Amino acid sequence: MTTFLLNREPISLTDTDPDMTVLEYLRQDAGLTGTKEGCASGDCGACTVVVGENTPDGLRYRSLNSCITFVHSLNGKQVLTVEHLVRNGELHPVQDALVRHHGSQCGFCTPGFVMSLFALYHSEAPPQREAVLSALSGNLCRCTGYRPIIDAALEVLQQRHGDAFDLEREAIEAELGQMETSVLPNTPKADPSVGFWQPRTRQELAKTLESAPDARFSAGSTDLALEKTQSSRSLHGLIDLTRVEGLNSVIVDDTGIHIGAAVSYSDLEPALLADYPEAAEWLERLGSRPIRNRGTLGGNLGTASPIGDTPPLLIALGAEVTLASGHGERRIPVAELITGYRRTQLQAGEWIDTVHLPRRRPGSELRAYKISKRFEDDISTVCAVFYLEPDDERVAEIRAAFGGLAATPLWLPDWQASLVGQHWPSLDIEEAARRLADELAPIDDVRASARYRVRVTANLLKRFHLETTRTDQLSRVFNSGVAHHA
Ligand SMILES: Cc1cc2nc3c(=O)[nH]c(=O)nc-3n(C[C@H](O)[C@H](O)[C@H](O)COP(=O)(O)OP(=O)(O)OC[C@H]3O[C@@H](n4cnc5c(N)ncnc54)[C@H](O)[C@@H]3O)c2cc1C
Ligand code: FES
Ligand code: FES
Repeated sequence: MTTFLLNREPISLTDTDPDMTVLEYLRQDAGLTGTKEGCASGDCGACTVVVGENTPDGLRYRSLNSCITFVHSLNGKQVLTVEHLVRNGELHPVQDALVRHHGSQCGFCTPGFVMSLFALYHSEAPPQREAVLSALSGNLCRCTGYRPIIDAALEVLQQRHGDAFDLEREAIEAELGQMETSVLPNTPKADPSVGFWQPRTRQELAKTLESAPDARFSAGSTDLALEKTQSSRSLHGLIDLTRVEGLNSVIVDDTGIHIGAAVSYSDLEPALLADYPEAAEWLERLGSRPIRNRGTLGGNLGTASPIGDTPPLLIALGAEVTLASGHGERRIPVAELITGYRRTQLQAGEWIDTVHLPRRRPGSELRAYKISKRFEDDISTVCAVFYLEPDDERVAEIRAAFGGLAATPLWLPDWQASLVGQHWPSLDIEEAARRLADELAPIDDVRASARYRVRVTANLLKRFHLETTRTDQLSRVFNSGVAHHA
């Protein structure tokens, strides 16, 4: 049985299809049609809702795309919809500000904007434009224009004071804490392969896999749910990995940054950026805020998509991954995990368990560049990540990895080896870029021609060299983030 709070109402689902989305549930079953469907693929934000969840720091609200979130994943949580924001006939401050700033015209996108701003209102984000843009990165509006919406958001953040939700926070925490959330399975059916399972330990996960070997893993479902909403495929058996102890936590120690495969990007952000702050823009450009609130490294690696943004970073950092099953585990370099177009070396019964990043080496340099048509929420034409460990200005170690260029993430060991020992500041970078370009044979597709991809990748290498060797004005412009495109 799946139990959650729909606004303030306790809900129990006993016989709901495993792959029913939150959006379907809200509109069709609960009759709450304020939440809209635009794209059904996580791109437009019309379906944004806020989910409240008990964490060690108390109740936390986050936005997500209800169109690509399975309703059973709400187990033990609270889902807030736009209908619930008006209290005693009074608009919530974010709604009131949107009205006063003329932040809505046709209004179709408005519930999604309201919910993203509500999540922002209840976050610790500073009242700054960057925070507003980040919170709204997953919301498209086609007729208002963004300025009035951003103005409304800034005003409400600057004048933020408590709201009705702050007053009921403790009560909600207690209600969620007492909620009976069953473990295995949530939707028992006559057919043992049909269900939505939420194992809490690795042992339970292994047992579930044994009894339902054809079930699919679901973490954030930001990729998986599209099989249903875009390809009309039913997903009868789903194993939710986000509650498995160990898969949902980050451990930082002397041996590395160990990130459970089902930790969301939003949750791994602090640990990643503490050691590798240069990855901040790359992370900000991975999907949108609601996508990062749900998407995971395990899901990104699990898709083995050629346009996945995390393999280039992980490979360039020399990350490793633990693959586990009921019979044991093995640890391999991330570079060896992906074996072909959308193929990994995962065996039946295995899951991606933990990603291990090395701790920051003093003096090392990292840059993660993403080239795409839109700044955020867009697919990489090229994702290029460069990592350098210098020793007395000579190259001790250099690793570069690229996404969007071929059927799999790409790295060039021979080219890397040719640079080892060279004096980095005086390196003939034109020659190194020419050799890099010669080794690339990128794809030609709707996003860009092969020629463009070669040129841009070689230019990114030159940019990396420039940024790590020059301290003049040009380099500062690049480092300030003013220049987003090579
Ligand atoms: C609007 C939108 C924007 C996006 N933008 C980007 C982007 O900028 N860059 C990018 O790289 N991706 C992007 N994505 C794709 C997606 O968000 C990411 O790939 C994300 O990391 C997937 O993680 P998830 O937890 O949601 O995976 P899920 O959808 O839950 O799973 C994806 C696949 O991996 C499998 N899987 C999940 N976890 C595991 C595990 N631990 N072990 C084995 N298999 C597993 C699942 O069975 C499924 O086949 C975007 C998606 C959307 C909808
Ligand atoms: S309907 Fe467009 S993001 Fe969900
Ligand atoms: S108000 Fe019409 S799409 Fe935003």
